[in-house]
Amino acid sequence: VLEEKDAVEAARCPHAASTAHSLEAIPGPTNWPLVGSLVELLRKGGLTRQHEALVDYHKKFGKIFRLKLGSFESVHIGAPCLLESLYRKEGNYPQRLEIKPWTAYRDLRDEAYGLLILEGKDWQRVRSAFQQKLMKPTEVVKLDRKINEVLVDFVGRIGKVNVSGKIEDLYFELNKWSFETICLVLYDKRFGLLQEKVNEEAMNFITAVKTMMSTFGMMMVTPVELHKSLNTKTWQDHTAAWDRIFSTAKVYIDKKLKRNTMRAPDDLIGDILHQSCLSKKELYAAITELQIGGVETTANSMLWAIFNLSRNPGAQRKLLEEIREVVAPDQDPCGEHIKSMPYLKACLKESMRLSPSVPFTSRTLDKDTVLGDYAIPKGTVLMINSHALGSNEEYFDDGKQFKPERWLREHGTINPFAHVPFGIGKRMCIGRRLAELQLQLAMCWLVRDYEIVATDNEPLDVIHSGLLVPNRELPVAFIKR
Ligand code: HEM
Repeated sequence: VLEEKDAVEAARCPHAASTAHSLEAIPGPTNWPLVGSLVELLRKGGLTRQHEALVDYHKKFGKIFRLKLGSFESVHIGAPCLLESLYRKEGNYPQRLEIKPWTAYRDLRDEAYGLLILEGKDWQRVRSAFQQKLMKPTEVVKLDRKINEVLVDFVGRIGKVNVSGKIEDLYFELNKWSFETICLVLYDKRFGLLQEKVNEEAMNFITAVKTMMSTFGMMMVTPVELHKSLNTKTWQDHTAAWDRIFSTAKVYIDKKLKRNTMRAPDDLIGDILHQSCLSKKELYAAITELQIGGVETTANSMLWAIFNLSRNPGAQRKLLEEIREVVAPDQDPCGEHIKSMPYLKACLKESMRLSPSVPFTSRTLDKDTVLGDYAIPKGTVLMINSHALGSNEEYFDDGKQFKPERWLREHGTINPFAHVPFGIGKRMCIGRRLAELQLQLAMCWLVRDYEIVATDNEPLDVIHSGLLVPNRELPVAFIKR
């Protein structure tokens, strides 16, 4: 039976009943012995199409459903009221699913954990060391000079490497841009990834991150211990990649730690390194994970923003007008300008709604929790599906269309829990403010200098490979204005 305070929330949530049912009562697809719904999911297109299958399941079973894949069971939530309820009941140390290949490497080498994998009080301690600076807009805006330094090179490179306006492997170019930016922010170091000839150190570093990312997925679905004891190629490549990432990162973090009082006003990370009571080992892990968390996510969101602007010339024109109104022709767009650019912010929000990079995040419940109609026991893994929320017509009218204006309406405001591309609550993405500033500035620089045009209007298939990516080269061209 619901407690009193739950009943108050239940009254606000149109999907809640007056009594809570058990976990077993949550609807879901066919649950076969041993395999659960794995076969059904494979028939629906497999893991690369899981985001579509999950949207279908939400359509079929409603706001909440239960899914078993092999021995892994999770409860999927896709309604703002359920997310709000979860948010309000959140404890001090929300947990996500463990990334076992990463913890196994750290344990092997006796390295610390960073924010992506830490839990409990240790997570909170490290989080609060970074939170103050990284989540505060007035602090993050100071990073605009560094972001712009890389953008000048990026926009210049677009001008040089395009063939009739087309860029070969635009996604890799964007990854190099976001890698270069986050390295400048974290380590004060330019790696030269946007130069014509990339040096060996930079190439090794970016390749190591790529290898680490491409080898961990396999060890999320098969036991890491087995890979470790058999010393499989996947495990060897994974550990060698982490070794390279850590050794490079340590060199530059050490250099920053040596520079004492002479810190520039925009050296947020320098301030954190010097002012926190974290150990050196903890700093190495935390900074390295900020880098891992910030590269592909930002590149991917930029890719989708470019795509959405190419398919919506009207919105792009309006954005260009706003840019020209706010930024004088002889000025560089900067953090201060962004404050007066509501349409730009709306374009980014709308792009992240329509084409989210991270389709879902997770929570492992640390206490029994009533959500809507159900009493869900401690230990249950919840999947928070931002992709399903963003594509639900119930929360976004004309939801398949790119309409930045929906974010600027005075009446009929959008429920904030219907748009969660950076997650929710205390464990929300800590790089959110940085990513937003980086993306907004990049959109400003690009749209001011280039018309982004669609080179075809065929539908673009989206596949899940950790992030949501297009299944072919983006059909866009950059025409110099
Ligand atoms: C966590 C998305 C950029 C570092 C997350 C989460 C999401 C996310 C969905 C999980 C949040 C949750 O479970 O509630 C994104 C997107 C980005 C982006 C879409 C770009 C558009 C960045 C950047 C950084 C970063 C630039 C680093 C500066 C992290 C870290 C966490 C995280 C460290 C774990 C936070 C914690 O557990 O305390 N991100 N992120 N992300 N992100 Fe991002």
